[in-house]
This record gives sequence, structure tokens and C-alpha cells, in this order.
Amino acid sequence: MDIKACLFDLDGVIVDTAKYHFIAWAALANELGFEFTEEHNERLKGVSRMTSLHILLEIGGVELSEEKKIEMADEKNTLYVSYIEKMTPDEILPGVVNFLKELRENGIKTAIGSASKNAPLILDRLELNQYFDAIIDGNKVSKAKPDPEVFLKGAEAVGIAPQYCVVFEDAAAGVEAAIKGGMKCVGIGLPANLSQAQLVVPGFENFALTSLDQL
Ligand code: BG6
Ligand code: MG
Repeated sequence: MDIKACLFDLDGVIVDTAKYHFIAWAALANELGFEFTEEHNERLKGVSRMTSLHILLEIGGVELSEEKKIEMADEKNTLYVSYIEKMTPDEILPGVVNFLKELRENGIKTAIGSASKNAPLILDRLELNQYFDAIIDGNKVSKAKPDPEVFLKGAEAVGIAPQYCVVFEDAAAGVEAAIKGGMKCVGIGLPANLSQAQLVVPGFENFALTSLDQL
């Protein structure tokens, strides 16, 4: 396959932010009087902030007014941001920087395609901005994954047609978005959860441009 662009999900692909989301959602659940477990947290991966809140409220069997929901989502985000503000480049997942450097050296375009409205802050903290030609985040899309909007906008922003793009994703909804957008997809994680991806790897350690020859 002739690859001209690589599009990356952020949370769970470049960095493990799920632990911070978990702390913040669990604090909210605690305040509302129920327990939120790590297993519950799995359901929120790749899901937008408001949809995550709806899932959390469903788990706790709690009903809130629209106004209160917005207040709760803001509260969760304030706590989450207090953690990600302290992140450092040490938290970039193994092998990511080497792969991004290899893409730069080979003239392959790169973009972020993330549901997170905090993506710019995370990329700043990780000092990764220099490696991306475009950043499409939760502030720039109206349709959540599995809709392909975020990746189609990423491909458009770097000027490459979808059939020459590869998406890297850790969430099933993100893999589905990539395939719907007419792109190839490398799943990051376990094959059982990401069966639609053409290739699934545990992470970027020992991953190189030649690994994409299998697509
Ligand atoms: C996704 C995460 O990348 O972004 C989700 O996987 C998260 O867990 C979503 O809810 C939205 O993030 P944020 O930072 O805008 O609340
Ligand atoms: Mg993700």
C-alpha cells in the first residue's frame, strides 16, 4: 500500500490518559453516591465528554437536569485538566516518538484525530506539536466516532485522499470510523476488541514504517 499520511487518535494511542479520566469520573460518581470502577471506565474510551457523562449516570441510575449535567461535566473536566496540566513528555507511550520521527524523515503527513477538547493542551504538555501537520480535535468536529468526520477532516487538512491514509486507534468506535472513511486502520491494543482493523499491535515498540507493508 502506498501510504502518504498517518492519522493518530490521541488518548490510548500516544498517551495513556484513561487513568486521569478514571480518577475524575470516579470522583464525580462518588459525589453522586455510587461506585465507578475501572471496568466501567473501559466503556468511556473514545467516547465524547457528554456521552461519557450519560453512560456514567446510567451506571449509577442517576437522573439529572440538563443544566446540572453541564455543571457536572465541567466539574469533571476541571479535575481532569488539573492532572493533565502536570503531564510531561515521559508519559508518551513507548516507541511513539521514534515512529513519528521516521514519518517526518520519510515525508509522510501526520495528523491527530481525537474526540478530546483537551488535545491541544495534552500535545503541548508532551511537546509533540512539531510532529503533527494538523490537529483535528473535539472542538473541530460535530459528529463523534464511529462517524468518520474527524479522520476525513484530518486527511483533508493534510491534503491526502483517504485511500492513502492509515489511522491508528485504540477504540472500536475509532476503528469503525477509519474504515467508514475509506482508510486503512492499525488497532492499538487487543485483537479481540479491534477486529475491524487490518492489523492490530500492542503498541509502537518495535513498530516501523515497514510494519505497514502488511496492510
Ligand atoms: C477521547 C477519550 O479521546 O476523548 C474519552 O478516549 C474522552 O475517554 C474524550 O471522554 C473526550 O475528552 P475530553 O478531554 O474532551 O473530555
Ligand atoms: Mg483512544
